[in-house]
Amino acid sequence: MRQKFQNASSFIKKMVKSPQEIGAVMPSGKNLCRSMAQHIGVDENEIYVEVGVGTGVMTRALVEAGIPQENLYLFESEEGFIAELKEKFPKANVIHGDAQFLQKYLCQKGIGKVSKIVSSLPFKSLPKPVAANILEQFDMILKPNGKIVQFTYAVNEPYPRSFKNIYGFTANRKNYIAKNIPPATVWLYTRSAI
Ligand SMILES: C[S@@+](CC[C@H](N)C(=O)[O-])C[C@H]1O[C@@H](n2cnc3c(N)ncnc32)[C@H](O)[C@@H]1O
Repeated sequence: MRQKFQNASSFIKKMVKSPQEIGAVMPSGKNLCRSMAQHIGVDENEIYVEVGVGTGVMTRALVEAGIPQENLYLFESEEGFIAELKEKFPKANVIHGDAQFLQKYLCQKGIGKVSKIVSSLPFKSLPKPVAANILEQFDMILKPNGKIVQFTYAVNEPYPRSFKNIYGFTANRKNYIAKNIPPATVWLYTRSAI
């Protein structure tokens, strides 16, 4: 309970400062986090990139699902979250960085392409050129048959339609999580096999 309150309080402070980048009123609830972890799937041999980590509620669900912390590369642009993420996930790779430069950061860590991306980025509220740059990075770092799990508060798809056509992905609407503030839908993007 205390942890939940701390997560919410540090989140709300950042939200007041930069609403467009945070794009949410509260950290995601447990049901949403578990659904995201379930749909991206657990593979102890794979590297996972998480973008838009915030206070780490999604990361907690990934770890609880069985993904080793060492396999997690956590990207968060808001500096105020970084120390708490490092404290909560001491074995994970916490990177204070902009998701527009994922490939560069991963390359610096000796990582090439990955199979799994877990994204909580608020694509609907990010400036269009920023969103386009990030989607281009997703394409650049994902292996063939790689997957992206993304939630949205909107009724329609989280990414522009052009994303699927340009980069060759299929999109599948997964769970609707009514018990979240606000309610959210989980989407799974899979790169079409070439
Ligand atoms: C909707 S919050 C999600 C936080 C947490 N994952 C959750 O589900 O509660 C979006 C997060 O994305 C971060 N963010 C926004 N733009 C970013 C960018 N370009 N690169 C990395 N993180 C970004 C924000 O700082 C914020 O922490």
